[in-house]
Amino acid sequence: MDPDQLPVDELLQDARDARLHAYAPYSRFQVGAVVLTRDGRRFPGCNVENAAYGLCNCAERTALFAAIAAGCRPGDFTALAVVADTSAPVSPCGACRQVMAELCDAAMPVLLGHLGHQVQHATVGGLLPGSFRLPDATE
Ligand code: THU
Repeated sequence: MDPDQLPVDELLQDARDARLHAYAPYSRFQVGAVVLTRDGRRFPGCNVENAAYGLCNCAERTALFAAIAAGCRPGDFTALAVVADTSAPVSPCGACRQVMAELCDAAMPVLLGHLGHQVQHATVGGLLPGSFRLPDATE
């Protein structure tokens, strides 16, 4: 999708709505995300924490995993938006960047937002140049 055609405000609002579903009793840091598919579907995600901290799942991965579980495949996605209560647009963690690199095209836009009005337009490839890939990965 042409980045100029992206429903930026709608995606950021969806991510803000998803953030309200965060289960974050340990960090108290709520994050929301949404991934948009080529056929116009939107899959929301929020962070889901666990008393075993290493099991915490970020909002971005929740959204992407929900889309995969619903039948989407790599290449089906056109944009991802993420929002948190930060003073500047939130920056996705390294694990989420690696998962985006696996499932999304390098040129895919990633909208970084917060509860304020700033938006940073990134791309999957720009967020993680040189991501890890197996040479012969097949679906
Ligand atoms: N978190 C996300 O959901 N996305 C990010 O990009 C960064 C961090 C979550 C994980 C954890 O539940 C909380 O924020 C604090 O790290």
